[in-house]
Amino acid sequence: MDRQLSLECIRVTEAAALAASRWIGRGNTDEADGAATSIMRNMFETVPIRGQVVIGEGEMDEAPMLYIGETVGSGAGSHADVAVDPVEGTELVAKGLNGALSVLAIADSGQLLHAPDMYMQKLACGPQLRGHLHLDDPLDVTVKKAAAVLKRDLSEMTVSILDRERHAKQIECLRATGVRLKLLNAGDVAGAMATAFSESGVDLYVGSGGAPEGVLAAAALRCLGGELQARLLPANDHEVRRCLQMGISQPDRLLMTEDLSGHGDVLFAATGITPGDVLQGVRMTQEHYAETHSLVLRSKTGTVRFVRTLHRLLPCDVAPLRSEQPPHSYTGNALESNVI
Ligand code: FBP
Repeated sequence: MDRQLSLECIRVTEAAALAASRWIGRGNTDEADGAATSIMRNMFETVPIRGQVVIGEGEMDEAPMLYIGETVGSGAGSHADVAVDPVEGTELVAKGLNGALSVLAIADSGQLLHAPDMYMQKLACGPQLRGHLHLDDPLDVTVKKAAAVLKRDLSEMTVSILDRERHAKQIECLRATGVRLKLLNAGDVAGAMATAFSESGVDLYVGSGGAPEGVLAAAALRCLGGELQARLLPANDHEVRRCLQMGISQPDRLLMTEDLSGHGDVLFAATGITPGDVLQGVRMTQEHYAETHSLVLRSKTGTVRFVRTLHRLLPCDVAPLRSEQPPHSYTGNALESNVI
């Protein structure tokens, strides 16, 4: 994978985050997602890959753009698997809450799991805990093992989990151990990724979330030296058949980081839409300028690159929104990019 792709990937997530940011707090999930998806699709035409969408906005008949199987990229360069989520946390954007990202991963062709759109049980941790935990352990055992490895009291551990009714038992079990809980409204790519950044204060991410998001999180954690263990949770015969159709012959198999994101080179890029544990959200800094915070990761070198960019906006980018029109015509006008 050409390392020059790193900056190209960031351009794509920046543009999607900027487009989505205009819809922050407007109560409309579809508009934010539509705006980000359309600009992400356009920006991919500048990326020198022959990409195929493996994780996208849905099947061809349900998503107009960035659907599974769609060819993206300029057509130059090598064949690649592409995983995208133009708005990871659409509800967060609509409600003006923290933690929404625009994300993508690009890997050598054939590396990313073709994950069906269903729930997946997940256990994510950073590099210090990699290899020490097991998804099938009861959660109280997992947090005790983690505390022992980190040489910390359980009361000094923080575990994040989506705040959902289906997690009631896990939340009760975790509370009984004395750990701190960070209950997420949405956004488990950010939740899982945060475990690899000590400044986030989060040690473990547990619980079930979307399987496609699991592949994106695994790509990020592989670059960061962390780990994502997972198991698909097909809810009925139809979902089991879906797994088989997508080439997953044993849907109940334990999936390790490499089963999800491969062994070859992978690039992961994310730009904050709303503020989060690791990245700031989009901010208007002065008239007609917007600032984005992104990161780009590469598994081959393990480089973690944070990029702060000032974007000069066109008058139409700041004109009042009308939901029937594309809200953002951003075309990659980055004024300044600081690698920090
Ligand atoms: P969307 O951006 O597609 O809305 O996904 C947000 C998300 O929170 C994911 O991060 C997570 O994997 C999934 O939804 C969890 O699903 P649910 O909201 O049904 O618990």
